[in-house]
Amino acid sequence: MSRRFLLAQISDTHVRVDDEGASLRQLTRALAQARDYAADAILMTGDLVNDERDEEYAALATALIDPPAPLFLMPGNHDQRARIRAHFPTHQYLPQDGFLSFALDQFPVRIVCVDQIVPGETHGMLTDAQAEWLDRTLSVSSRPTIVALHHPPIATHDVLFDQIGLRDAKLLKTVISKHKHVRRIICGHHHRVVFGQVAHAPVIIAPSTSWAYGLALTDAQPIAPKTSEQPGWMLHIWSEQDGFVSHFMGL
Ligand SMILES: [Fe+2]
Repeated sequence: MSRRFLLAQISDTHVRVDDEGASLRQLTRALAQARDYAADAILMTGDLVNDERDEEYAALATALIDPPAPLFLMPGNHDQRARIRAHFPTHQYLPQDGFLSFALDQFPVRIVCVDQIVPGETHGMLTDAQAEWLDRTLSVSSRPTIVALHHPPIATHDVLFDQIGLRDAKLLKTVISKHKHVRRIICGHHHRVVFGQVAHAPVIIAPSTSWAYGLALTDAQPIAPKTSEQPGWMLHIWSEQDGFVSHFMGL
């Protein structure tokens, strides 16, 4: 069998300490499923906690003490960089200062994680400096690569989420179009599964483990209602023979 790599993407966990354990239970179930499927790595793509609170990060750190695979953290708009650094001191891949962007080179697939949050804001923004960092980082290797971020870099036609997505997504498109070895762009934020494209690269928006949002195509429709759609996570599978395939894993 050709070499295979399984990445569990767990997004928008929104861990709280006042929800009778609901958010942590969902995270724990996702981690158990990732263990059952023998995931090779776990990437949490932001909104780790709900309110940037120390107690929430402490609860998250406890839940992540013994993950079933190497686990990596990215910030979302509900996170605070300094608190992530403070509560996860053993996560050596996290830069000591500035943006929490990093590249993972130890797997058959390269994973490049871009921090594009804007402190205090709901939307995301790719700065010129982060775009240059991404361009430079993607130039290091032509191995198959996943680019991960929190905010979707595509218009989904949802009247709310298109206002609070990644601003200046054109800059990302300019960078990605130069690097044909980027095979997937993965993100979260929208709390629903959506597919799109940036340049040649398929984009997959992962669900939240905690709750799903409905879709509002017009102002007359409910804006960001919590729905009964199933929360979950994404399992991205890569093999030498077949490239990438991505599965929605319901919780
Ligand atoms: Fe979220």
